[in-house]
Amino acid sequence: MVPIAVKVDDDSLEINYQDDDAQHTRRRTTIKYNPEQTIGANLENMRVRMAGFRFDVVIVDNPLSYPFTDTVVGLNHRRIDIGLALMNMFNVPVVARPTVRQRGLAAAVADKVAYASWHLDYYGEYSGKRNYGQEAMLTVGNGYFGLRGAYVEAVADADNYPGLYVAGVYNQNTTNINGRNVVNEDLVNLPNAQYLSFGVDHGNLFKIRPSDIRDVYRSLDLRTGQLRTSMLLNLATGHQLAVTATKIADMHHYHRFAIRYEVTPINFDGSLQIHSAIDGQVTNGNVDRYNQFDQRHVVVDATETDATDAWLTGHTRHSNVHFAIGSRLSSPDRVLSNAVNGTHTTNAARQTVNLAVRAGHTYTVDKLVAVVTDHDGERADMALTDRVRAELQQGSFEDSTAATQNYFDDVWRRTDITVTGDITSQKLLRVNTFHMLVAGAALGAGHLDASTGARGLHGEAYRGHVFWDEMFCFPFYVEHYPAIAKAMIMYRYRRLGAARKYAQSAGQSGAMFPWQSAMYGDEQAQSVHLNPLTNQWDPDNSRRQRHVSLSVAYEVWLYDHATGDHDLMNRYGLDILLSVVRFWLSLTTKNSTTGRYDINGVMGPDEFHEEYPNSKRGGLSNNAYTNIMVAWLFKVVANLLQTLPDSTVKAASARAGWSSEATQQLDQVRTHLQLDINDDGIIGQFQGYFDLPRLDFDHYRQRYGDIARLDRILKSEGKTPDAYQVAKQADALMAYYVLNRDEVESLITAMGYRLPAHYFTHNLQYYLDRTTHGSTLSRIVYAALNQQDGNYDQSWQLFREALFSDYYDIQGGTTAEGIHLGVMGATLHVATSIYGGVNVLGDQVVVNPHLPRQWHRLNFSIKVRGVQLRFMISRHTVRLTADHATRLMVAGQQIQLVANQQQEIRY
Ligand code: BGC
Repeated sequence: MVPIAVKVDDDSLEINYQDDDAQHTRRRTTIKYNPEQTIGANLENMRVRMAGFRFDVVIVDNPLSYPFTDTVVGLNHRRIDIGLALMNMFNVPVVARPTVRQRGLAAAVADKVAYASWHLDYYGEYSGKRNYGQEAMLTVGNGYFGLRGAYVEAVADADNYPGLYVAGVYNQNTTNINGRNVVNEDLVNLPNAQYLSFGVDHGNLFKIRPSDIRDVYRSLDLRTGQLRTSMLLNLATGHQLAVTATKIADMHHYHRFAIRYEVTPINFDGSLQIHSAIDGQVTNGNVDRYNQFDQRHVVVDATETDATDAWLTGHTRHSNVHFAIGSRLSSPDRVLSNAVNGTHTTNAARQTVNLAVRAGHTYTVDKLVAVVTDHDGERADMALTDRVRAELQQGSFEDSTAATQNYFDDVWRRTDITVTGDITSQKLLRVNTFHMLVAGAALGAGHLDASTGARGLHGEAYRGHVFWDEMFCFPFYVEHYPAIAKAMIMYRYRRLGAARKYAQSAGQSGAMFPWQSAMYGDEQAQSVHLNPLTNQWDPDNSRRQRHVSLSVAYEVWLYDHATGDHDLMNRYGLDILLSVVRFWLSLTTKNSTTGRYDINGVMGPDEFHEEYPNSKRGGLSNNAYTNIMVAWLFKVVANLLQTLPDSTVKAASARAGWSSEATQQLDQVRTHLQLDINDDGIIGQFQGYFDLPRLDFDHYRQRYGDIARLDRILKSEGKTPDAYQVAKQADALMAYYVLNRDEVESLITAMGYRLPAHYFTHNLQYYLDRTTHGSTLSRIVYAALNQQDGNYDQSWQLFREALFSDYYDIQGGTTAEGIHLGVMGATLHVATSIYGGVNVLGDQVVVNPHLPRQWHRLNFSIKVRGVQLRFMISRHTVRLTADHATRLMVAGQQIQLVANQQQEIRY
């Protein structure tokens, strides 16, 4: 281990390091703090000054002493956790000198690495979008509900947003804007039941105000699922207190969450009032640009309090989902019933616990909350309030802690991806896994009518809708939690009727799933979209992304293929597939000039291209991704029709209105679909793409800096991205992300096209040069494609940025409105299937690892067709175990595994 030491003074940082010479000469350099610049810019100066220094651990010489972390320092009249900052920057452990003295360097480093890779921490008080973003990242939840990681003392305002969402609970409101009725369906922000605060000696209620907060540290422990907020307070009245709130979403009893609230008066004796509320005065206010719409979705029906409990019942305004929320206050060390006063108004149930207190003693109040709705498919025979009461009676903070601990023990045993050599990747892969469960866990119980929204249960962007982003999460769920994957498909299956209607309304047959789906499965994509640069509503044609139906079909196939559970395919899946195929057959038209089949009026994933410039028709012709996936689907379905039992085919055909003529068309159409491939072998994103001019990205970068949303920039200049070769995200090459390359090539060659040597490399470079990565779903796809093409460094850069998407809120404010679940799921998939090289798409599992240089080892498990496989991959070897005998192809060799016997293979 080569350490460097950092001593922090208020206006400078002194760095002691070893020279790279043979004598390891000790050197010292001082970096002046520039108060004109941000802390971030100063740290960047430090990074530049330290370029070339060799070290793998940083020791902070003079940290302040705090109970929550040991690397806080004072810099430029402020306190920062330099440990977090330097670790993020250098990706090495940062330890404190006093800890090193106490524990020794090796132990201090080991502790720090373990801690850092299991915790998501934020130090300091933040406001605005930044705090909203941290709340999204600190959301706890269990797939039934999501509870934003706001301070429990906060109410919704410009800096804090304590949202609570229950999966599948939406409401539609109509707002008249400029004489036009606009309908929006939102995932409903339910009453704020996490609220807890306090007052001293019957004085003012404590509010989140920077002037009162001396220090605050928020830490999400991924191993236990607990979010702990520790505050040291200096109130204007002179009272000093330490306050800790520990929040848990119960992962087992998923109607419950629990908060332990601990208050320690530091410099006074007297009385404390702990206030608790279930506050129904909430709207959907997380996303500024939606505020001009009617965002009131909740009607409170009744509120009540008794000795220790409070209730609020209500319903959603138009979808009429009834809900009940109850809370119970208790204390592990005293009987509270005599100390609680309850009051209830039409909109809120409030309680106050009155406690006599002494300095230096800690007073604890637990708040257990239960949420139920009549939409969750449970106990229709019981009144909602009785269900809540039963939850409260059976539960406690300890119980939720223990149940959640058990749940996460199992999660990490089964799904943990461990990486050595890269603390940040390790941490963020776990953060992403965690949020996949916050967004989806309870779906696995099988009776919730919901799927995973593009922004999880973490915020209100995209109004909680379900997109094709599901497909990016799907491999993770299929390989670890097939029951969740199944529930996602069933959510679609229940909306097959709506999808059929939608197809019909567009003059097509079969089923057309909506681009944005919510409660009923009708189209929820907006027809206008606000451009923040011009403040104008631009037309939004994104609904023409008919490829979403292909993702649903892909998920049905992947579930069947990767789990080996054919029941879903037999009972529901084939019906979905046939209905979707009918839709595509009806949309395909034979072109009498080319003799080929065209698919017109669609958009690919690249949302910058909605139509041909100056065309009134809307949509594009022959989007390559769409056509390739249609060909794939037709091939899959033709095969299923031959191999599935007759009775299954008959029943599904009857339901889907499938005819034998349709069966006959499949091969003919799929082998004659139109693509536009130029002489260099570049696959045109759509027909006519090559006629569009390129844009000078350098010019735009110079002028605007960040050009990720070049569509908005162009529109603000009175231009349209439709007119240029510019893409928001991976499109033409998307098929290579979801299917194996040889499969895509065989589909294209079956259409009668020839792909020249090196075409893939050329396509990759071509489209990367034209893509701005305006969607978080872009870089991760290109990370996978670059790795497949042997561009390891470029793959790694893109992967890292994708991994950081929400942690650094790389889109500058969108994490505030919910995490981006698709990219989170996709990073887990790319880590295992691309870097780990474990490909489950073929008949046999194929393993071809290639670890990023930074990763020394990569371990993970997945379950494929009933076999639990464990991989331990290092630079040149794979160690493999399976719980049943199985055959795999590893680095080109056929390997027969005996159950529970590890084999090592060199690659
Ligand atoms: C992307 C889509 C994605 C949607 C929801 C958009 O910005 O372009 O591909 O489905 O966000 O995440």
